[in-house]
Amino acid sequence: MAETTAVLNWAHRAPCSKTIHDPSAKSPTKIKSHTGFALVTGAKMIILAIETSCDETAVAVMRNGREQLSSELFSQADMHAMYGGVVPEIASRNHTAVIGKLSELAVKNAGIELKDIDAVAVTYAPGLIGALLVGVNFAKGLAFSLGVPLIPVHHIRGHIAANYIAYPELEPPFLCTIVSGGNSLIADVRGYTDIRILGRSRDDAAGECFDKSARVLGLGYPGGPALDKLAQSGDDSLFNLPRPVIDGFPYDMSFSGLKTAVVNIVHNAEQKGETLDTASLAASIARAVSDILVPRIMTAAGELGYSKIAIAGGVAANSRIRADFLKAAEEAGHTLFIPPLKLCGDNAAMIGCQGFYEHLAGVSAGMDLNAYATLDADAEYTEK
Ligand code: KG4
Repeated sequence: MAETTAVLNWAHRAPCSKTIHDPSAKSPTKIKSHTGFALVTGAKMIILAIETSCDETAVAVMRNGREQLSSELFSQADMHAMYGGVVPEIASRNHTAVIGKLSELAVKNAGIELKDIDAVAVTYAPGLIGALLVGVNFAKGLAFSLGVPLIPVHHIRGHIAANYIAYPELEPPFLCTIVSGGNSLIADVRGYTDIRILGRSRDDAAGECFDKSARVLGLGYPGGPALDKLAQSGDDSLFNLPRPVIDGFPYDMSFSGLKTAVVNIVHNAEQKGETLDTASLAASIARAVSDILVPRIMTAAGELGYSKIAIAGGVAANSRIRADFLKAAEEAGHTLFIPPLKLCGDNAAMIGCQGFYEHLAGVSAGMDLNAYATLDADAEYTEK
């Protein structure tokens, strides 16, 4: 339970007697952040976090960043499955329908009351704009009514932070590959809020490649987990799939050629009336994606002198990719951090965790907080 209260003066946002907690500090010193908050030591900070960037409505209650008091998730996957992918309008409407009840549940399951919440964190970018806006506006209303700070959190930073929840000992700096349905990038995590992007996909995300390949194979949506399962009984050397290299940009990636190659293989087989070894195609896809991801971060770790590497995002749940990262890290003598499966995909615990560190860095938003469909993970939040 909170020992002090954080109060935000929405009207002026000027330095005042607001107090929040910095449990990482040992002595009871006060630090003044640029937002005018005094960070006070020795107390527990409770953040209610909201994530609605795609088709998962998620609300979590986190204590001091890494301690999960509750984490609730409502997946809309079944509602989008019949369309073969996420329908933005449907996603927004479902977020609207469930976010209130889910928040009540998160508070109840955390064993707290609304008055115990010290701040509200919310994903504000990147993602489906309508879906993001539902979470942002709900978070604004809650923060405003409770009189607590509103913390904007970048979705990708949240994925990185999933590792902090899983590994209490993990601290920056480290390298992290973030692979999800909408993003694929390699980040140099220099500090909790100091992220540099070393490389990224020039086109599709790795998750998009898995999902579209699965769709053409009739595996439904989301296709990644089904493709992963199918790949277990396949021969990963049966299909020769592309692993593009981008001249002069060793850490950049491309997955659209791989996706197109898979679509062509399936269509050619259909046209010729041939039976396709789908398990081996699935295994070959996983191997190709892994061959694109793993060497890049290993090279980056060698060049930048990092010995700690992490992976994050929905695609980090892939068994082939996890195994290849583990093997490569072991061979190089690096420490590898991989979140458990439930923290790989979208969730609100990771947003609450990153929100805590953003808050300590003095990041807060006013009632003018907006949502952004695209925004780089290294962009600092600035009031518009
Ligand atoms: O992180 P996430 O839940 O949402 C985004 O932020 O995009 O990632 C979802 C993506 C989907 O493309 C899904 O197919 C993929 O993660 N995924 C997987 C696996 N589990 C989820 N891809 C490959 N293998 C898996 N086991």
